[in-house]
Amino acid sequence: MSNETLVQLFRDHPGQFVSGAKMSEALNVSRTAIWKSIKKLEAAGYEFEASTKLGYKLLFEPDKLDSNVLDSALKTSRFGRLVTIAGEVPSTQDLARKAAEDGVSEGMLVIAEQQVSGRGRMGRSWVSPYGKGIWMSMVLRPSVPIHCAPQLTLLAAVALCRSLRRVTRLPIGIKWPNDLLVDGRKISGILLESAAEDERLKYIVAGIGISVNLAEGDYPEEVLGKATSLRVASGRTYDRTELIADFLAEWEQLYDLFLQEGFRSIASLWESLAVSLGKQVKLVTPQGEITGIPESLDESGAIRVRREDGTLVTIFSAEMGEPLDSPVNRA
Ligand code: BTN
Repeated sequence: MSNETLVQLFRDHPGQFVSGAKMSEALNVSRTAIWKSIKKLEAAGYEFEASTKLGYKLLFEPDKLDSNVLDSALKTSRFGRLVTIAGEVPSTQDLARKAAEDGVSEGMLVIAEQQVSGRGRMGRSWVSPYGKGIWMSMVLRPSVPIHCAPQLTLLAAVALCRSLRRVTRLPIGIKWPNDLLVDGRKISGILLESAAEDERLKYIVAGIGISVNLAEGDYPEEVLGKATSLRVASGRTYDRTELIADFLAEWEQLYDLFLQEGFRSIASLWESLAVSLGKQVKLVTPQGEITGIPESLDESGAIRVRREDGTLVTIFSAEMGEPLDSPVNRA
């Protein structure tokens, strides 16, 4: 019996429980074999409701990523035109970095169904279960000085925010520098890792994680409350290919604008989508903690923060907390 035959049996009974006895009779295998197949399907992103009396009901079937289907959906000229779609990998960042070192052209994309060592900013790990999200890394080769790298992080956040807002209609905003939030919970993360030579960028590996169809139960307890998915936030599921195609089109367009005209117009777009301006926050910087009100971006992509004594400081790297008067902090 293949897993596909079992899935077909569930598809033939939409929204219904199928008993263990019925499954083993229909497929001519033991109930233990059925149970093992269900566990395998769960590891591949399928969700079931289990009942000791009634059997199993299929609740969620993940979509499949396919390079031909993605290629037909793409509206870009370079981004994602060369793509590797992998099953389980440690981190797409490592595969894309290797490809960049081997000389692949700009826009080469690595997507994985699952990452077992997905990583985030500040050494954190990134929850990347099978078939439920978009875990991908793209190679960029911008001909700009190394100090422009943070601007490309903000650019990716703007592109992702605009695209996800358009497709999902969710009220998504950007928390500096590049977290996308809905209802104060993180829905995606961006990680840019770069290699430089003589003050110029050799390449950038831009890692994008979008929590698309994860259920609450897919998150470890310590992350619940801080993270969410498009599915949890909206109550519906999304086609990952459609999301990737829309985002890559937006990203390529803004990237070309940046290469032609510089950062200013990207910074204005970022400010219009930011949720972290005008509210008092605490920032943990490598030099210590600062409390103040973020006001705007400077031309490098750093944030200008007004302190309580009226002085303006420019912060290049920090972890920004929740607004100090938010419900989370009042509780
Ligand atoms: C963050 O907000 O901390 C950044 C998270 C970045 C996650 C993505 S998922 C694809 C790529 N591979 C990784 O290991 N990380 C990035």
